[in-house]
This record gives sequence, C-alpha cells and structure tokens, in this order.
Amino acid sequence: MALRIQQLQQWKQQGRPIAALTAWDWLWARLLDRAGVDLLLVGDSLAMVALGHKTTLPLTLDQMIHHAAAVARGVESALVVVDLPFLTYQASEAEAIASAGRILKETEAQAVKLEGGYPEMAATVARLVRSGIPVMGHVGLTPQSVNQLGYRQQGRSPAEGDRILAEALALEAAGAFAIVLEHVPATLAERITRQLTIPTIGIGAGNACDGQVLVTADLLGLSDQTPPFAKTYADLGAAVIAAAETYCQEVRSGQFPPPPLSAAAQTHQSIGS
Ligand code: KIV
Ligand code: NA
Repeated sequence: MALRIQQLQQWKQQGRPIAALTAWDWLWARLLDRAGVDLLLVGDSLAMVALGHKTTLPLTLDQMIHHAAAVARGVESALVVVDLPFLTYQASEAEAIASAGRILKETEAQAVKLEGGYPEMAATVARLVRSGIPVMGHVGLTPQSVNQLGYRQQGRSPAEGDRILAEALALEAAGAFAIVLEHVPATLAERITRQLTIPTIGIGAGNACDGQVLVTADLLGLSDQTPPFAKTYADLGAAVIAAAETYCQEVRSGQFPPPPLSAAAQTHQSIGS
C-alpha cells in the first residue's frame, strides 16, 4: 500500500529523515520504489532530464499526465507526488483545481506540488486542500521563475530569508502537507524546519531539513550538468555508453549474435537444462 501523507508528519516528529527522488517513467519508478524510496516526485525537471528542454517551462499538463501515469504504474509503496507544470495553476484557483484534478483522476498519483508561497498561492493551496487534493509546497529557488531568478541561491539576505520563512508558514497554514526548500542557505532551511510542524524536504538546503530530494538523473550520473549540491551515487551514463559501444563493436565484427548451435548441441543443451 502506498505511503500516506500523515506518515511523513509522524516521521518529522520522530526525527526519521524522508528520502525522496524524482521519477519520470515506469522503468525508473519501479526500480526506485523497490529500493525503498519514501516519496517519488514526478518533478517537472523531467522537461530537462527526460525531454531535453533547457528549462521546465515548456512542459504541458498532457505531457505531465502521460509521465505521471507511467510512474504511478511502477510504484507500489512510495507516495507519488506530481508537479503542476508552469502556467497550469497560476491564473486562478479554478485553473489549479482543474489541473490538479486531471492529475489525480487520470493517474494513480496521490498528491500535487506547486511553486511559490506568496499570498495568492497560499490561497490556491487552501482551495485545493479543501477540495480533497493533498498539496506539497515549494519555496526558495523555484525553477518555473527562472526568467526572474536564474538558478541562483535564494534567501541570502535577512529580508529575503524572512520572506521565504513567511511563505513557508503561509503554505503550512493553507494546509500543505510538506514543503520543498530548494537552494537556500542551510541556516535558513534549519530555521524554517524548526518553525514548521509539516516536514521540509531540502534540495541544496543543507542537512537540517526533515528530508532530502535529488533529481534522479543527477544521482545516477545521467545528467550533463549536475548542480554543485547534488551527489552522484553511480555513473550509469558511462556504464550505458560502454555497454552500447561493446554491443556496436560485437555486431560490426560479427561476434554477436553467436553462430547457431548444431542440432546435436541443441538437443544436448535442452536435456542438460
Ligand atoms: O522538478 C523537480 O525535480 C523538483 C525537485 C528538484 C524538487 O521540483
Ligand atoms: Na519541479
């Protein structure tokens, strides 16, 4: 059975860190779920790591639903949370409900995530939560605002830090069940984590958050550009290239496939097996 959002809040109280990763299709989701990842985020970073876009902005709701449905088909245990793509929730609360509603109706995911903590967004979160849709917040560096913020660390000045803390508190008051803190100073993330009763999930936000999330392509060495705060746990990119190179060589040299066995050898093999 899938993890419930209440469990995350219990884990915060117990000091049991939450381990989250992103997923973009059935193949990867299945493996990550088997590894025991607590929360799988179908992040809109899939626009970059799975679709080759330069930013998250071009991703459409239909594309997200296509990917989220595939991820959810591969997951038995993890909580599946889906990013609302850029401009599928900002215009109005009704738009946010329609978009989040499509995600929950057309995929087996349990929750959505949206970016921003300013008052209008907190009101949208409250409206979604009252409609029965669990929502995760996301403050600090919000990549859907890349054209305003770039990919710089956020919350460096005391005033900016206070604003991000206020946004996180507003999202909690609106009913968000957890909040992603992206690329903010560790001291700010710690301050926010202490003041909230809901869990914080950090990415580039130090070690005091209630959980951590990484983009799986970075974790597995599949990205061309890995942010400085990410850790690469396996170099699958190099492994894939080496395997495919060997295959190409063997096909071109006639080493693969091997010549057919003689009829006698085939009979012998089937008896032996
Ligand atoms: O889209 C994404 O991968 C995210 C995480 C970095 C939190 O939003
Ligand atoms: Na995202």
